[in-house]
Amino acid sequence: MWVRNAWYVAGWSNEFDAGRVHARTIIDQPVALYRTGDGKLIALEDRCCHRFAPLSMGRIEGDDLRCMYHGLKFAPDGRCIEIPGQKLIPQSACVRRYPVEVRGSWVWLWMGDPAAADPQAVPPSLALDDPAYRLKAGHLDYTAHYLLIDDNLLDLTHLSFAHENTLGQDMPQWADERPRMLPLERGLRVQRWIRNHRPRGFMRKKAGDCADVWNSYDFVFPGLFLQRTGFYPAGTAERSPNAEPPEPPLFYRVDEQAVTPISARASRYFYAAGARSEDIDPERLDRLFAVTQTAFGEDKALIEAQQKMIDLDPDRRMIPTNSDAGPTRFRNLVDQLLATDGTPSSGTAGLRPASL
Ligand code: FES
Ligand SMILES: [Fe+2]
Repeated sequence: MWVRNAWYVAGWSNEFDAGRVHARTIIDQPVALYRTGDGKLIALEDRCCHRFAPLSMGRIEGDDLRCMYHGLKFAPDGRCIEIPGQKLIPQSACVRRYPVEVRGSWVWLWMGDPAAADPQAVPPSLALDDPAYRLKAGHLDYTAHYLLIDDNLLDLTHLSFAHENTLGQDMPQWADERPRMLPLERGLRVQRWIRNHRPRGFMRKKAGDCADVWNSYDFVFPGLFLQRTGFYPAGTAERSPNAEPPEPPLFYRVDEQAVTPISARASRYFYAAGARSEDIDPERLDRLFAVTQTAFGEDKALIEAQQKMIDLDPDRRMIPTNSDAGPTRFRNLVDQLLATDGTPSSGTAGLRPASL
């Protein structure tokens, strides 16, 4: 099942250069994206209404897109406006149009009823060229259902184990400290202190030998992860146990990620990582990003292997633990969205603990 009425990240805006048609698939729907003469992004169903050739194999003509099989031409609103060899254009000759929004540096598509698309509901995200931050970005393709990646991001206890040599190095606290969770519209806010952390490398110069680390992220359907991590002098957690302290942190890390379902066993994971500009120079950013990418490779190896195990025996029950609280709450929210808005898809058996 897929939730159609939602904004999905189609890619980083700089992926969609002008003069080319870009093919993407989101929730099993093929989409062709191109830019009109004034640079506006258009997203149409990537399936010509004539005999279903992909429009991404077509040609941009001004603001329009021509199918290069038998030449039907489509306007940016998806209407067919030209059929070679005939004057009459049937009303039914059209392809779906998907509402597009560019926010921060992401391109968002509304995959459901265009009339229900609310641009105000696009979650806020940073632009990669925001002068207040230094960020690097990339993406990874997964052979796995997107909810397994969501589960991973909603349960950071895995940092202490899956990332014991990277993001979770010397940080058993990730597994030991229970986070606080607050409900959000279509998501969760997850917050915790990591007390008495011993930073390494250049982080030690910035944050000292021992720091309290405030970690807070918003996680919003379908898989948007907006995380802020502030390093403070040891003892700060005692003074401000349940909230971000009012004083500026010694070091402020930023991570923004989005998970986009492509099909039942394919997902794309977009990520940006960095820090406040004053905290990091380009060379240190390269190092921070390299460690981060190594960690994301660790996640991918585990999650793809987990998917294979699930598919070997989809009816097998998982055993829930306390650390599943975030994934469980989010799965319940997804179930609610599916109940009101779901469309069928295959291959979802075995993707959650049966008792959750
Ligand atoms: S399939 Fe597109 S014009 Fe025939
Ligand atoms: Fe991870």
